[in-house]
Amino acid sequence: MSTFTIDTGTSRATPSPVPGKRMTVPAIRQRKQDGATEHPIVMLTAYTMRMAQLLDPHCDMLLVGDSLGQVIYGLPSTIPVTMEMMCAHGAAVVRGSWHALVAVDMPFGSYEGSPEQAFASAARIMQETGCAAVKLEGGEAMAPTIRFLTERGIPVIGHVGLTPQAVNLLGGYGPRGRDQSEATKIVADASAVARAGAFCIVAEGVMEDIALKIAKTVEPPVIGIGASAECDGQVLVTEDMLGMFERTPRFVKRFDDLASRIGEAAKTYAEEVRSRTFPTPDQTYRPKS
Ligand code: KIV
Repeated sequence: MSTFTIDTGTSRATPSPVPGKRMTVPAIRQRKQDGATEHPIVMLTAYTMRMAQLLDPHCDMLLVGDSLGQVIYGLPSTIPVTMEMMCAHGAAVVRGSWHALVAVDMPFGSYEGSPEQAFASAARIMQETGCAAVKLEGGEAMAPTIRFLTERGIPVIGHVGLTPQAVNLLGGYGPRGRDQSEATKIVADASAVARAGAFCIVAEGVMEDIALKIAKTVEPPVIGIGASAECDGQVLVTEDMLGMFERTPRFVKRFDDLASRIGEAAKTYAEEVRSRTFPTPDQTYRPKS
């Protein structure tokens, strides 16, 4: 059981003892042995230093997802997300974590042009944030890029199935793989990404039988989101699972109802300010007598 010392300058809560070593890419890969993962990999998204601090002790991996476009910036999709956003939030999450492996999403337009473009973008993300890996969306078409990056020292997480950056092509955020040809394509995508060297693969919004097939056939761990409990791990958008939003996809379980709790706290604060019952002497500086 670790305790925390607070650095009042940065509000950084340093665990004591400080975990000796962060989770590594080989350690994540190793979790899947002979096609099975005994201890499922726990992954959540984080975009800020404080959230990273809170999640870090419980997670194997923290993902600085480009979902920050909607969650933090109120954008309509992940498409307008920039490298600057990913680098700033990625660095904050690395500063707020000690134990989990931090991976940062490559934003739309930063990697699809060519493997060389992807290398320049991924190198910038790693240099500016200190993260250990990047994630990029796409299957067979992205395999040469994933190979190019991994052969040059950049660990890559693949992302197949529902790929939100392709929302305009897909026509929405519904689950993928309902018909046989799409199901076959998703399995082929996952195999291509695995063969190209991805050290794990996110499978998002796919029919359960597809997720199971992928998890059974590819070598790297498969992290499900809206996929199957039998995947090698799970990821959710933290704000979704904390109940921060009124509407969430069907595959999200709300582990809390933070939106109403925050609303209640703000309401009580407003009432106390208006009735002058806050602040009390306890929260007021007075000369020492
Ligand atoms: O951007 C994101 O948060 C993601 C996860 C949902 C996997 O890609």
